[in-house]
Amino acid sequence: MTHAMRIDVITLFPEILRGGLDCSILKRAQKKGLVHVHLHQLRDYALDKHRTVDDRPFGGGPGMLLKCEPLFRAYEAVKAMGSDTAEPGAGVDVGTSAEAAAETPVDSVEGEGVTATGTVKASEPTPTPTPVTRTILFSAGGKLFNQAMAREWSKVDRLIFICGHYEGVDERVREALADEEISIGNYVLTNGALPALVVIDAVVRLIPNAVGNAESTESESFSFDPADGGGGSDGEGGESSGHIVEWPQYTRPEDFRGSVVPRVLLDGNHAEIARWRRAQAAERTRRNRSDLLPPAPPVA
Ligand code: ADE
Repeated sequence: MTHAMRIDVITLFPEILRGGLDCSILKRAQKKGLVHVHLHQLRDYALDKHRTVDDRPFGGGPGMLLKCEPLFRAYEAVKAMGSDTAEPGAGVDVGTSAEAAAETPVDSVEGEGVTATGTVKASEPTPTPTPVTRTILFSAGGKLFNQAMAREWSKVDRLIFICGHYEGVDERVREALADEEISIGNYVLTNGALPALVVIDAVVRLIPNAVGNAESTESESFSFDPADGGGGSDGEGGESSGHIVEWPQYTRPEDFRGSVVPRVLLDGNHAEIARWRRAQAAERTRRNRSDLLPPAPPVA
């Protein structure tokens, strides 16, 4: 049995994620028990009567920052929930409040642990290995997310996502809680909920059995093995001038409004098809994603 991953998202906007999690492959992966996603409303961890989560920056300047206290409280409560993902019928639950967390006997939850295969064994006397957990803080100034990160994170037991908002978060959150600070692109979003959904999508589809045909996560953009004649880089810098992005694909009809499928794809010569595809993908990579190619050697 493959192990179930647990993903926790701490956010002010769980509803942004909920729709995406309830569709297609993400929905199916949760139904199959491959992943359990838990959404946590940050505001539930603010204890004052206005449920304040933000404040002005020391030293002045525009905007508001997410405060330490609710974020640390949320993080610590979520972390203590352990990797016990067995929740009948539910992949997503929202709104584990600070009060509810306070009522939970933290030790007993944490103590249950999860075996390497993901089976919860409450009565097991031997210590279970600590689940491998990565905590990601989303912000526009973080490292750029890429396919190599998605692959790496698809293998951990647990991901905890902290979604930023306003002008950012108090630096102590970054220092004390986050293993990585991640941006999904060179543009500024209003908050980290969409980045969290993007990363969940990229990670979950790489969990074994999440996508029907295993091949379809291998023969795709950013995933070519350089040894395979491509220049696949997994986002870490290409190794050759081969292909990185996908080649053009066609399905029926052969002729659509006068635009016809290239002859080579219809003739059944598989060596020719493979050659054509490589050349097309290399050309498309040069045209669209030259940033992924290694620098050209200096001219002698
Ligand atoms: N928060 C705001 N903009 C973001 C971005 N591009 N990536 C991740 N988090 C963000």
